[in-house]
Amino acid sequence: MDKKIKTGLVGFGCVGQALYEIINAESLPFDVSRICVKNPGKARSLSEENFTYRYEELVNDPEIEVIVELIDDSEAAFKMVKQGLVAGKKVVTANKKMVAEHLEELMALKENGGKLWYEAAVCGGIPIVMTMDQFYNYEPIQEISGIFNGSSNFILTKIEQEGLDYHQALALAQKLGFAESNPLLDVGGYDTMNKLVILLCHAYGITTTPSSLSTIGIQHIASNDLDFARQRGLKIKLIAKAVRNNNLVHAYVMPCFVDANQDLGHVNNEFNAVLIKGKYTDEHLFTGKGAGGAPTAASVIADIYATIGKPDYDYYKWHDNREITYSNKVSLPVYLRYNHSAELNEFGFEHIWSEGRYKNGGFVVGEISLDNLWSLNAYIEQKGIVVVAASLLENPQRLFATKDQQTVAV
Ligand code: HSE
Repeated sequence: MDKKIKTGLVGFGCVGQALYEIINAESLPFDVSRICVKNPGKARSLSEENFTYRYEELVNDPEIEVIVELIDDSEAAFKMVKQGLVAGKKVVTANKKMVAEHLEELMALKENGGKLWYEAAVCGGIPIVMTMDQFYNYEPIQEISGIFNGSSNFILTKIEQEGLDYHQALALAQKLGFAESNPLLDVGGYDTMNKLVILLCHAYGITTTPSSLSTIGIQHIASNDLDFARQRGLKIKLIAKAVRNNNLVHAYVMPCFVDANQDLGHVNNEFNAVLIKGKYTDEHLFTGKGAGGAPTAASVIADIYATIGKPDYDYYKWHDNREITYSNKVSLPVYLRYNHSAELNEFGFEHIWSEGRYKNGGFVVGEISLDNLWSLNAYIEQKGIVVVAASLLENPQRLFATKDQQTVAV
């Protein structure tokens, strides 16, 4: 291809800079014409003439075919992406929050001829969105489980393997460019939920919004909890999970125990993993770097390539599978650590298999409905209660039952 495709880049943070460097280092059929950034005063690695502060200069430039949106303000990003699609540009974005919050509106814009790709929005360098949309388009997906956030996996790994404390590990994740500008999005599970919402659409045809679902994060996990896991040969990982039962899909984001020998138990640092169980394909495990400039930029580049003559997403399941809906009417095995025993009264456990005391507070392991947990989400956060699900383990009841203790129906 002699003439290079002209792209307009929005945002010049960690991923934007990595993208620019890769495009310059490799011989690619596209180049970056102009970069739109917000703050004129900021010191940058490129000279001033590469930048504009007015998005209109990109969107109104007839030479620019592709807009690449890489900013972290999801509302500003949505306006820009919308404007780009309406103007007839092909748009590539890595903004998971924006895609998850506005998926239906974006799909409506696509119905009107807009072309949009967002591979880098889900699990950084793992090619999962197009795979889910195309390879699995006819395959009934029974389960998706995975580690979708590099920062929290990095933090948990550093605490577990190197003995860093939570704040040191988070600071390192920020320094390495893995964390969001607001790291609560990472450790609180919200970033993982954004990615899960996107996959729910491609895998099951369910459109929902992150705010209509709930998450529990890793921010209150302490050495008590990690020791509890270690003593049983387990690790704690922040997990996204969706399970289909007939036409109901329940989905959640929360810390989960994984067996150190299980596939997800080997996924450490900023690596992500997506484990898919299909009705006919059985299990597939995808793993790779889920955060960081270069791996994420590599996914963006795959999308920019796709703009040259390849189709964007089909949303086959969304078009044809309307009877599948979301439900949180399911019971989960969980470990719950409280600080004061009175806090336990708020939770309607269906069974308690095991109980114990810590120096401050204690824990129970038992079964509780997802519905109940979500209704107490604000309380869990306010009190710093830790919940770790045992739903990825085989036979959690046996694993956690205290010796000589009977299951207590409550
Ligand atoms: N903050 C995100 C993470 C970046 O840590 O996974 C990639 O989406």
